[in-house]
Amino acid sequence: MTSEVQGVVARSKGAAVELATVVVPDPGPGEALVDVAACGVCHTDLHYREGGINDDFPFLLGHEAAGTVAAVGPGVTEVTPGDFVILNWRAVCGQCRACARGEPWYCFATHNAAQKMTLEDGTPLSAALGIGAFVPQTVVASGQCTKVDPAVSADVAGLLGCGVMAGLGAALNTAAVRRGEIVAVIGCGGVGDAAILGARIAGASTIIAVDIDDRKLEWAKGFGATHTINSRGVNVVEAVQDLTGGFGADVVIDAVGRPETYRDAFYARDLAGRVVLVGVPTPDMKLELPLIDVFGRGGSLKSSWYGDCLPSRDFPMLIDLYLAGKLPLDKFISERIGIGEVEAAFAKMDAGEVLRSVVVM
Ligand SMILES: NC(=O)c1ccc[n+]([C@@H]2O[C@H](COP(=O)([O-])OP(=O)(O)OC[C@H]3O[C@@H](n4cnc5c(N)ncnc54)[C@H](O)[C@@H]3O)[C@@H](O)[C@H]2O)c1
Ligand SMILES: [Zn+2]
Ligand SMILES: [Zn+2]
Repeated sequence: MTSEVQGVVARSKGAAVELATVVVPDPGPGEALVDVAACGVCHTDLHYREGGINDDFPFLLGHEAAGTVAAVGPGVTEVTPGDFVILNWRAVCGQCRACARGEPWYCFATHNAAQKMTLEDGTPLSAALGIGAFVPQTVVASGQCTKVDPAVSADVAGLLGCGVMAGLGAALNTAAVRRGEIVAVIGCGGVGDAAILGARIAGASTIIAVDIDDRKLEWAKGFGATHTINSRGVNVVEAVQDLTGGFGADVVIDAVGRPETYRDAFYARDLAGRVVLVGVPTPDMKLELPLIDVFGRGGSLKSSWYGDCLPSRDFPMLIDLYLAGKLPLDKFISERIGIGEVEAAFAKMDAGEVLRSVVVM
């Protein structure tokens, strides 16, 4: 029996999102039906609405969620009804080239539910990042459900489903920040602040936060930034060099994802330093760099997909750290909102008023 629920749908490029009736199928083989309890608003949802990811409208938005498994389809063994889970958008296959060589966090064949949720008239919905969780019930691949300690509240747990994990992992996994290193983070939204927190946990001695908004820089200090740079009208490379004895940072994390922020990241690092791109560029963006500088500055240029996390390894561990009082995840939540307030939350995100708005069902 299918269920009909109200979900947040983006119908066409740039149009305001709206609540629409979503038809959710029963879970098929390898699938799970999840009662969503909370889902954060991520910048990637806005990218979808703006057509910046692809043109597969209509989208069912929301992908930073936690909830309880309501039912599972045939053949599902990882989870059972009643399990408290965080939804992940990289359910690894275990068989592709990356998985076979022991690097499942790069899995090239991550999977989602085979069945699509639809609008009332049968129009299939593209679920954001294969999840679609601004809706009280969603159907996902069972591997997208990661069990964690149910002692954590869903609004906090859901944060690890996307942005906060992406930022923490960009510092901890992709950059592999070491004790005593100098780290700069460009863009201090939910993702950038999580990267700052990750750098702090890893033992970075200097953490430089860069943003165009003073309020964001103030919040960044709360996550561990030791220095801040308001980059509006400022040469970021020189400003970082001024704070680092003229050398630049060991690691620069670009949590904006624009050609100009990437170029700043590239030149604001020390020789042989690492650049990590975690912000998502749009398909039209181009980058031009002197190839001699790519060679001559050495080091590594990496992208970070979902913080190179392995949900089964990282989610339970990070929730345990939170419950032990060692990872202030709750500080990312600026407000709790109803499911009808996502469009307003996008506006607040754009105006820099929030880190994370979390929809509570
Ligand atoms: N790689 C991944 O797996 C992954 C996962 C989640 C989100 N993301 C991406 O990460 C990026 C950040 O997401 P978010 O949720 O933190 O967004 P956000 O809107 O909350 O934060 C972006 C921040 O960047 C700042 N900013 C904008 N332009 C800037 C500039 N030119 N220089 C310096 N700062 C600037 C803004 O003031 C804001 O504080 C987005 O592109 C999002 O799509 C990537
Ligand atoms: Zn794989
Ligand atoms: Zn996201």
